[in-house]
Amino acid sequence: MSAPFDSAHFRAVLGHVPTSVVIVTGLDANGAAFGITIGSFTSVSLDPPLVGFFPGTQSQSWAAIRESGRFCVNVLGAHQEDMCWRFAKEGDDKFAGIEWVPSAGGNPVLPGSIAWIDCEIETETVMGDHTCVVGLVTSLDHAESVENAMVFFRGKVSSVKHVG
Ligand SMILES: Cc1cc2nc3c(=O)[nH]c(=O)nc-3n(C[C@H](O)[C@H](O)[C@H](O)COP(=O)(O)O)c2cc1C
Repeated sequence: MSAPFDSAHFRAVLGHVPTSVVIVTGLDANGAAFGITIGSFTSVSLDPPLVGFFPGTQSQSWAAIRESGRFCVNVLGAHQEDMCWRFAKEGDDKFAGIEWVPSAGGNPVLPGSIAWIDCEIETETVMGDHTCVVGLVTSLDHAESVENAMVFFRGKVSSVKHVG
Protein backbone atom coordinates (compact mmCIF):
# COMPACT_ATOMS: atom_id res chain seq x y z
CA MET A 1 0.00 0.00 0.00
CA SER A 2 1.42 3.39 -0.94
CA ALA A 3 1.79 6.16 1.65
CA PRO A 4 -1.06 8.73 1.78
CA PHE A 5 -0.39 11.73 -0.45
CA ASP A 6 0.86 14.73 1.54
CA SER A 7 -1.10 17.64 0.05
CA ALA A 8 0.44 20.19 2.45
CA HIS A 9 3.91 19.19 1.19
CA PHE A 10 2.65 19.41 -2.41
CA ARG A 11 1.43 22.97 -1.78
CA ALA A 12 4.66 23.96 0.01
CA VAL A 13 6.86 22.65 -2.81
CA LEU A 14 4.73 24.17 -5.59
CA GLY A 15 4.71 27.44 -3.62
CA HIS A 16 8.40 27.72 -4.49
CA VAL A 17 7.47 28.24 -8.15
CA PRO A 18 7.06 32.02 -8.63
CA THR A 19 3.98 32.90 -10.69
CA SER A 20 2.41 35.92 -12.28
CA VAL A 21 -0.80 37.20 -10.72
CA VAL A 22 -3.79 37.96 -12.95
CA ILE A 23 -7.48 38.55 -12.35
CA VAL A 24 -9.72 36.83 -14.87
CA THR A 25 -12.87 38.89 -15.28
CA GLY A 26 -16.09 38.52 -17.23
CA LEU A 27 -19.85 38.93 -17.21
CA ASP A 28 -22.54 36.35 -16.52
CA ALA A 29 -25.61 35.90 -18.72
CA ASN A 30 -27.31 38.84 -16.93
CA GLY A 31 -24.36 41.19 -17.40
CA ALA A 32 -23.14 41.05 -13.77
CA ALA A 33 -19.35 41.33 -13.33
CA PHE A 34 -17.27 38.51 -11.81
CA GLY A 35 -13.55 38.05 -11.24
CA ILE A 36 -11.07 35.56 -9.79
CA THR A 37 -7.41 35.88 -8.82
CA ILE A 38 -5.32 33.38 -10.80
CA GLY A 39 -1.66 32.34 -10.62
CA SER A 40 -1.84 29.62 -13.25
CA PHE A 41 -2.03 31.89 -16.30
CA THR A 42 0.19 31.08 -19.28
CA SER A 43 0.71 31.87 -22.92
CA VAL A 44 -0.13 28.79 -25.05
CA SER A 45 0.17 29.48 -28.78
CA LEU A 46 1.09 32.32 -31.14
CA ASP A 47 -0.67 31.03 -34.27
CA PRO A 48 -3.52 30.88 -33.48
CA PRO A 49 -3.13 33.21 -30.46
CA LEU A 50 -4.09 31.15 -27.41
CA VAL A 51 -3.67 31.64 -23.66
CA GLY A 52 -4.76 29.46 -20.76
CA PHE A 53 -5.33 29.18 -17.02
CA PHE A 54 -6.69 26.71 -14.45
CA PRO A 55 -9.73 27.67 -12.31
CA GLY A 56 -10.92 25.22 -9.65
CA THR A 57 -13.92 23.12 -10.62
CA GLN A 58 -15.76 24.63 -7.60
CA SER A 59 -15.10 28.24 -8.65
CA GLN A 60 -18.35 30.22 -8.45
CA SER A 61 -16.84 33.09 -10.42
CA TRP A 62 -15.69 30.92 -13.31
CA ALA A 63 -19.12 29.22 -13.42
CA ALA A 64 -20.64 32.70 -13.89
CA ILE A 65 -18.05 34.05 -16.36
CA ARG A 66 -18.18 31.02 -18.67
CA GLU A 67 -21.91 31.72 -19.34
CA SER A 68 -20.87 34.54 -21.70
CA GLY A 69 -18.24 32.48 -23.54
CA ARG A 70 -15.70 35.27 -23.00
CA PHE A 71 -13.20 36.49 -20.43
CA CYS A 72 -10.49 39.10 -19.91
CA VAL A 73 -7.11 38.47 -18.26
CA ASN A 74 -6.03 41.49 -16.16
CA VAL A 75 -2.29 41.29 -15.43
CA LEU A 76 -1.49 42.85 -12.05
CA GLY A 77 1.28 45.29 -11.25
CA ALA A 78 3.02 45.33 -7.85
CA HIS A 79 0.79 48.27 -6.78
CA GLN A 80 -2.38 46.14 -6.95
CA GLU A 81 -2.01 43.90 -3.87
CA ASP A 82 -5.44 44.95 -2.49
CA MET A 83 -7.01 43.83 -5.76
CA CYS A 84 -5.14 40.50 -5.61
CA TRP A 85 -6.60 39.57 -2.20
CA ARG A 86 -10.06 41.03 -2.86
CA PHE A 87 -10.57 38.72 -5.87
CA ALA A 88 -9.08 35.72 -4.06
CA LYS A 89 -12.10 35.56 -1.73
CA GLU A 90 -15.47 33.97 -2.34
CA GLY A 91 -18.45 36.31 -2.64
CA ASP A 92 -20.57 38.38 -4.98
CA ASP A 93 -19.44 41.89 -4.03
CA LYS A 94 -15.86 41.81 -5.29
CA PHE A 95 -16.46 44.76 -7.65
CA ALA A 96 -17.98 47.06 -4.98
CA GLY A 97 -16.43 50.52 -5.36
CA ILE A 98 -14.25 49.55 -8.33
CA GLU A 99 -14.65 51.68 -11.44
CA TRP A 100 -13.81 49.28 -14.26
CA VAL A 101 -13.97 50.03 -17.96
CA PRO A 102 -15.17 47.57 -20.60
CA SER A 103 -12.64 45.86 -22.85
CA ALA A 104 -13.28 45.57 -26.58
CA GLY A 105 -15.16 42.35 -25.77
CA GLY A 106 -17.16 44.06 -22.99
CA ASN A 107 -15.31 42.41 -20.09
CA PRO A 108 -14.12 44.37 -17.03
CA VAL A 109 -10.66 45.95 -17.27
CA LEU A 110 -9.57 46.75 -13.71
CA PRO A 111 -7.93 50.10 -12.87
CA GLY A 112 -4.15 49.89 -12.69
CA SER A 113 -3.77 46.62 -14.63
CA ILE A 114 -0.46 46.53 -16.50
CA ALA A 115 -1.84 44.43 -19.40
CA TRP A 116 -5.19 43.00 -20.45
CA ILE A 117 -6.00 40.16 -22.81
CA ASP A 118 -9.53 39.63 -24.13
CA CYS A 119 -10.50 36.07 -25.11
CA GLU A 120 -13.25 33.83 -26.35
CA ILE A 121 -13.37 30.43 -24.66
CA GLU A 122 -11.78 27.90 -27.01
CA THR A 123 -11.69 24.72 -24.89
CA GLU A 124 -12.36 23.61 -21.30
CA THR A 125 -10.90 20.33 -20.05
CA VAL A 126 -11.43 19.10 -16.50
CA MET A 127 -8.12 17.93 -14.98
CA GLY A 128 -8.49 16.62 -11.43
CA ASP A 129 -10.01 19.36 -9.27
CA HIS A 130 -9.24 22.13 -11.79
CA THR A 131 -10.31 22.96 -15.34
CA CYS A 132 -7.83 23.77 -18.10
CA VAL A 133 -9.37 26.78 -19.86
CA VAL A 134 -7.86 27.81 -23.21
CA GLY A 135 -8.92 31.12 -24.72
CA LEU A 136 -8.60 32.48 -28.26
CA VAL A 137 -7.20 36.00 -27.95
CA THR A 138 -9.46 38.59 -29.61
CA SER A 139 -7.75 41.82 -28.48
CA LEU A 140 -4.98 42.83 -26.08
CA ASP A 141 -2.93 45.79 -24.89
CA HIS A 142 -0.59 46.96 -22.13
CA ALA A 143 -0.14 50.09 -20.02
CA GLU A 144 2.61 52.61 -20.75
CA SER A 145 5.92 52.66 -18.83
CA VAL A 146 5.30 49.71 -16.52
CA GLU A 147 8.06 49.42 -13.88
CA ASN A 148 6.98 46.75 -11.37
CA ALA A 149 5.06 43.54 -11.98
CA MET A 150 3.48 41.40 -9.24
CA VAL A 151 4.76 37.90 -8.53
CA PHE A 152 3.47 35.33 -6.06
CA PHE A 153 6.12 33.32 -4.20
CA ARG A 154 5.84 31.12 -1.08
CA GLY A 155 2.36 32.39 -0.28
CA LYS A 156 3.21 36.07 -0.50
CA VAL A 157 2.96 38.83 -3.04
CA SER A 158 6.19 40.48 -4.09
CA SER A 159 7.45 42.72 -6.82
CA VAL A 160 9.73 42.25 -9.79
CA LYS A 161 11.32 45.39 -11.19
CA HIS A 162 11.91 45.91 -14.88
CA VAL A 163 15.60 46.64 -15.37
CA GLY A 164 16.61 48.01 -18.70
C1 LIG B 1 -1.93 34.62 -5.98
C2 LIG B 1 -3.13 33.70 -6.09
C3 LIG B 1 -3.22 32.83 -7.17
C4 LIG B 1 -4.33 31.98 -7.30
N1 LIG B 1 -4.41 31.15 -8.38
C5 LIG B 1 -5.48 30.34 -8.55
C6 LIG B 1 -5.58 29.49 -9.69
O1 LIG B 1 -4.72 29.48 -10.57
N2 LIG B 1 -6.68 28.71 -9.79
C7 LIG B 1 -7.67 28.71 -8.84
O2 LIG B 1 -8.64 27.96 -8.98
N3 LIG B 1 -7.60 29.52 -7.75
C8 LIG B 1 -6.54 30.32 -7.58
N4 LIG B 1 -6.46 31.15 -6.50
C9 LIG B 1 -7.54 31.10 -5.50
C10 LIG B 1 -8.79 31.85 -5.95
O3 LIG B 1 -8.51 33.20 -6.24
C11 LIG B 1 -9.87 31.75 -4.86
O4 LIG B 1 -10.19 30.39 -4.64
C12 LIG B 1 -11.13 32.54 -5.14
O5 LIG B 1 -11.95 32.51 -4.00
C13 LIG B 1 -11.93 31.97 -6.30
O6 LIG B 1 -13.01 32.84 -6.53
P1 LIG B 1 -14.49 32.31 -6.54
O7 LIG B 1 -14.68 31.58 -5.24
O8 LIG B 1 -15.33 33.56 -6.61
O9 LIG B 1 -14.64 31.45 -7.74
C14 LIG B 1 -5.37 32.00 -6.33
C15 LIG B 1 -5.26 32.89 -5.24
C16 LIG B 1 -4.16 33.72 -5.12
C17 LIG B 1 -4.07 34.67 -3.94
